[in-house]
Formats: sequence, C-alpha cells, structure tokens
Amino acid sequence: MTGKIYSASTTAPVNIATLKYWGKRDTKLNLPTNSSISVTLSQDDLRTLTTASAAEFFESDKLWLNGKEESVHGPRLLACFNELRALRKILEDANPELPALSKYHLHIVSENNFPTAAGLASSAAGFAALVQAVASLYELPQSPEELSRIARQGSGSACRSLFGGYVAWEMGEMADGSDSRAVQIATQEAWPDMKAAILVISASKKETSSTVGMQTTVNTSTLFKYRTDVVVPQRFKEMSEAIVNKDFETFGKLTMIDSNQFHAVCLDSSPPVFYMNDTSRLVIGLIEKVNKIYGRVVAAYTFDAGPNSVLYYLEKDEPIVLGLLKAALPDTDGWDKKPYTASISPAVPDGVDPCSLEALKEGVSRIILTGVGPGPQKTDEVLIDGNGLPK
Ligand code: DP6
Repeated sequence: MTGKIYSASTTAPVNIATLKYWGKRDTKLNLPTNSSISVTLSQDDLRTLTTASAAEFFESDKLWLNGKEESVHGPRLLACFNELRALRKILEDANPELPALSKYHLHIVSENNFPTAAGLASSAAGFAALVQAVASLYELPQSPEELSRIARQGSGSACRSLFGGYVAWEMGEMADGSDSRAVQIATQEAWPDMKAAILVISASKKETSSTVGMQTTVNTSTLFKYRTDVVVPQRFKEMSEAIVNKDFETFGKLTMIDSNQFHAVCLDSSPPVFYMNDTSRLVIGLIEKVNKIYGRVVAAYTFDAGPNSVLYYLEKDEPIVLGLLKAALPDTDGWDKKPYTASISPAVPDGVDPCSLEALKEGVSRIILTGVGPGPQKTDEVLIDGNGLPK
C-alpha cells in the first residue's frame, strides 16, 4: 500500500561540554545533578541529518541510523515520540482540518557526516536532530528551549544541541523536569573566533557508557557531592560570564579544570571508571607546557567519556596550535579536509622537547579541525524514498 507521505528534514550539531554534565537525579526523566555548559560545533565538519516522515499506510514506527535499522522500543526514544505526538495532537484537536499525523506511524532516517568509528559522541546530535525533525514535520510552534526538554529525555547532552553558539543546560529544580532545559548563553556570532581541534584517540578497550558511568559516580563517589554542591554552581557563573565577556583566559582555565575534575570523580567511583588513556594524558601535559611557555592559555583541553581530546583555542592562535599539531602529527588523517592549513608551518615552541611528540603519533588516528557553529538547520535534503524507506 502507498499513499501520501509527509516529511521534514533537519540537521543538528555536535556539542562538546566545557562544564561537564555528570550524574542524574532522575534517571527516567534524565534530570541532571548539576547544570552544564557547552560549545556547539560547526556542522560543516560534524552533523547529523535526519528525515522524519509520517503516513497513514506506515505499519509501525521505524528508525534507521547510518543505514542500519534500529529498535524503536527503547524508553528514551518512546519518551520523545510520546511528547512530540501529544503536542501535535493539541494542534489537531484545535484544527480538525490538519492531517492526523499524531495517529500515523513515523519512519525516521538519520545519517552522520563523520565516521561512527571515530568514537565521537553522536547521541547528542542524533536526538537533537530527531526531535527537531519530528517537530518540523508536525509544524509544532514550540521554541528550541521547549524542544530541548524533549531532547533531554533522549540523551541529556542532546538538549544543548538545540542551540548554536554557547549553551547552558540549566538543571532546574522541579520534580517533573519542566525547568530542566537548555538556554543560549551567547550566539556563535557573538564570539565567532572560537576554534576546536578534535584529536581522535583510538580506544583499546570498550568504554563504560556515560549513562552507566555517571550513575556509578552518583552512587559511590564522596568527592562528587562537593563537585555538584559547591564547585559547579560557582563555576557555572564564572564560565557564563567568561563567555559573555569573551574572556578566553578564564574560559580556558575553567574548561581544563572542569575536565580534570570530571575525570577525578570518575576515578573516585567504585569500581573506578577510566576514560582517558596514556595518549590523552600526553595531550594534557603538552598543552599545560605550551600554556606555561606562553604565560597564558593558548589552548584548553577537554575530554568526555572516552580518550578523545578536544582542544579549544582562538583563531588568532591558530599558527601556534596548528603549528604544534602539524609538527606532532604531520601525517595524521584530516589535514586534507582543511586546505588552508597548508600555509601553516610546523613549529615546536622553545621549551617543548620534540621527542615528547613522537608518542602522540602512535595514539592519534585522526584530527578534525572545526569551530563554533549554529544550531539545527532545516534542509531540503530528504533521506526517505517514495515508499517511506531509506533512499
Ligand atoms: C561526559 O548525554 O551521553 O559527555 O544522558 O545518559 O545519554 P545520557 O548521557 P550523555 O552524557 C554526556 C556526558 C559527557 C559530558 C557532557 O556532555 O556534558
């Protein structure tokens, strides 16, 4: 059977936290134990493209991620579908002429423009794209802030990918999660010269998922309470101010100490959770050294629930940061994606031992050069064919 297919497509960005979300106070609603802050990265380099479609003849909800059909029965996905359908139903009840999309099954097709093998957290971009695509399909009037509450239930960090630029996830206080949502601290245009270099560091063994790791920390770490009750509330204010004031020195310092504290509470968990490896620690040592040599924060490192390193730096310092990375990783995959970097000369600052760079080559498999970018974008690209299947 066939018939009319309604569809809408959107892209959504990856975000990398500079003040980390780690811990849930409600695992069902994905309510966090602390507020967090992130930078949204450019979709030229990292994005998820999702087409959401609905038709009367679809027999069940279906989802394809990067060419593979996935289950639609997970509680997180169901929570997103249910909330979006309920909002659509309100529109249909108010206007009976609207097609009854809330009653139709959904077919969703989603693709990343970056290799899944890179081990980059894609759930944030994935859930943000899914929620935004279905919201567009349903022509929902809800703001990105309101949609962020829905995306949060898919994956906590996804709520921050509903906005571009610099984004806060305010933890909220309400038991129903109605005030736990993302807000924009500053647009991409307000501080456009923020750059990011992602060093993809291959993991040798399977990591503990964020969801499991963070609850181990909540249940067992004694340092964790100090982090959520004392450190983060103050740090949240300072980092928000640093972003508004475009104060990279403060922003960078806070980013590094927060990454380190997040990994410290992981180590303080029982059993301990390890995400960084020797290469990750080499990157920390190198960046600390370079910052010390220059007497200021030239680059700030941060690590999520895996060994990959993200370096934030300002465009004016590209010759220093990319010069160093070129000297350390001349043959690593990824330079060819940014032809302009050909004019940057490899350079090791005086005081850095060139031999110390050798070990980095072994551990880093790819470099992704990107920068701050916008939030979800509507697109005419459609991933679904006339039968409602992936093209
Ligand atoms: C270390 O958002 O992946 O990247 O809510 O369980 O899906 P769930 O967790 P997730 O955790 C992200 C943790 C982090 C820090 C951050 O992004 O703030």
